[in-house]
Amino acid sequence: MKTRLIAITATAAVLASFQPIMFAAEEEEIPKEVVLAAYKKNCAACHGMDGKGETRMGKKAGTLDYTDIKVIEEIKKKKPEVVFKHIKEGMEVDGKEKMKPFDKKLKDPEIKALIKHILTAFLPKEK
Ligand code: HEC
Repeated sequence: MKTRLIAITATAAVLASFQPIMFAAEEEEIPKEVVLAAYKKNCAACHGMDGKGETRMGKKAGTLDYTDIKVIEEIKKKKPEVVFKHIKEGMEVDGKEKMKPFDKKLKDPEIKALIKHILTAFLPKEK
């Protein structure tokens, strides 16, 4: 009984240590709560936990309301790699910096997952 428990614990530890590799390989593998935590840490200061961008920093930076389907449609019209670049390398509009680059803080699959989160999570749920 005891050896079995140890074996299970050992397996769990090995699996846990493999997780970062899995994240790098497959963006879908990033669990929702990890994406949410990364959003909270890196993005919510401007875009808000509700996606409305009505935070002090967001208002200053000029964030748009991501609960508005029209705003989301405009972002979706852009090429995914352009939007991705805006997060990874920073975004400027009319020579004014809107977002700083996140390439030092986030890995590519994390950025992709965060963009997906922004494009889907804040819209009013369809009935
Ligand atoms: C300093 C404030 C600030 C922070 C922090 C910030 N953003 Fe932004 N973001 C902006 C502003 C301003 C815009 C331009 C207006 C808009 O689309 O809301 C923008 C635009 C975007 C866009 C649309 C890009 C496009 O090409 O139209 C996405 C997607 C986005 N942000 C995602 C993120 C993610 C993901 C994070 C966290 C990793 C993040 N932002 C952090 C201010 C910020």
